[in-house]
Amino acid sequence: MKDKIKILEDKIAKAHLGGGLKRIDTQHGKGKLTARERLHFLLDDGSFEEMGTLITHRTTDFDMEKHVIYGDGVVTGYGTIAGRQVCVFAQDFTVFGGSLSETHAEKICKIMDMAMKIGVPIIGLNDSGGARIQEGVRSLGGYADIFHRNVGASGVIPQISAIMGPCAGGAVYSPAMTDFTLMVENSSYMFVTGPNVVKTVTNETVTSEELGGAQTHATKSGVTHLTAENDIECIQQLRQLISYFPQNCEETPKPLDYSLEDETREALENIIPENANQPYNMRHVIHEIIDKESFFEIHKDYAENIVVGFGRLAGRSVGIVANQPMHLAGVLDVNSSKKAARFTRFCDCFNIPLLVLVDVPGFLPGTDQEWNGIITNGAKLLYALSEATVPKVTVITRKAYGGAYDVMNSKHIGADLNYAWPGAEIAVMGAKGASEIIFKKEINTAQDPEEKLREKEQEYADKFANPYSAAERGFIDEVIYPKDTRRKLIKAYALLTNKVVNLPKKKHGNIPL
Ligand code: COA
Repeated sequence: MKDKIKILEDKIAKAHLGGGLKRIDTQHGKGKLTARERLHFLLDDGSFEEMGTLITHRTTDFDMEKHVIYGDGVVTGYGTIAGRQVCVFAQDFTVFGGSLSETHAEKICKIMDMAMKIGVPIIGLNDSGGARIQEGVRSLGGYADIFHRNVGASGVIPQISAIMGPCAGGAVYSPAMTDFTLMVENSSYMFVTGPNVVKTVTNETVTSEELGGAQTHATKSGVTHLTAENDIECIQQLRQLISYFPQNCEETPKPLDYSLEDETREALENIIPENANQPYNMRHVIHEIIDKESFFEIHKDYAENIVVGFGRLAGRSVGIVANQPMHLAGVLDVNSSKKAARFTRFCDCFNIPLLVLVDVPGFLPGTDQEWNGIITNGAKLLYALSEATVPKVTVITRKAYGGAYDVMNSKHIGADLNYAWPGAEIAVMGAKGASEIIFKKEINTAQDPEEKLREKEQEYADKFANPYSAAERGFIDEVIYPKDTRRKLIKAYALLTNKVVNLPKKKHGNIPL
């Protein structure tokens, strides 16, 4: 028996060496950890159990039978994060550049199938040179097998992709279909076609980093939700991110222990400036409302006119969507609508209640916005918030103007509880714009048109630049003292814990894409 155990030991040791010490050194030289090191830091100590350690490719083309490495470039298995079961795969760049062969894909599919069968999150750590060139269409088939599973798993189990090296060509589409993508700065990139092809086709000269590095996707395309300075930070973010989620769509997120104390937050009374046109940072409002240090922002540097992220209220997960007056006065535009819609849909898939904080002067005007489809894209957010069946609570902190009032989780589209602060202005538009339109004749024919405009502006403001017209109709359930917001919200979500919405039978809706 000893001999047989020795054979197994040797095989496992060989598998653990991946592409060998030299390639491991090269990997470290690029500031990257190996696949196994990454899993070591991602999962709780000693919790990782590998599956398919001894799998090898079956290719004989191009003398590939002479180059066989156990594991075939991807480490797959399961383990725990803060005690919760997860399934994982980590591509091993030291083995054929982490390229995806038929068997490599089979391993990923197998662990995805396991995650679906047992209802746990699937986490992929990507670091790959793409399709295994020696395998041709077999590896392309492997990608498609993964894509199909990504779609099947969407909305059933959380799917997270960390990009920790190259991810190019077809490889990008699996992360793109998962719920969250994280990228490591300066060592990862994602693009459909690389700089060389770009140069040939469009004559643009661009580096990999400029074309598809972490910063690019965090700020310009929104492809990545989070960026990290290095592998370790990326893994820590991953661990924190998952803490807000349930295991699958049948569960609710596990609350942290919390005992209620004095939940009044006086600081909220002083955040909104006296002048309605002066910006303030909505993040300050969020921090005062939610549990200390519980805010985990998503898409921080993309479409900064809206803030989205996870937080906790009395220990319970909540998804926050908030206009940000610090950027473009908090208007809704194409990118902010897409960002908030996608986030809303994730929360709804996984039973994470929504908190919508509103200070919105309307939609961004202009040809750029209209020609880029602000109509369809704005409708995404409207649709997503309207369709969500999780507990939905709104707090209007200041402006809620025009169609954007409707979109931002108004009562009319199914919000459960709608609050407004006393300084809220719920109207079709700002007093100045409104007066210029409806009192145009009076203003133009007045002896002093400017004085007349001021007078009419005041008249309009007195009537509509407040929350009371909406409160009188029940569009706002309560006008509340800002300092009571946290207390009210804790009670609101407790009230809504067992909310049930029965939907009519349908295959699926048709969100404007
Ligand atoms: N198929 C098979 N092997 C691949 C591969 C692929 N798609 N991508 C990389 N490799 C192998 C390399 O041959 C090399 O093998 P070796 O260690 O035995 O020499 C190893 O992986 C590392 O690749 P290398 O090119 O030395 O690493 P790098 O860091 O300099 O460059 C890439 C990384 C990804 C930019 C580069 O490998 C590349 O361009 N790969 C091909 C990308 C591609 O076109 N994929 C197919 C379409 S999706």
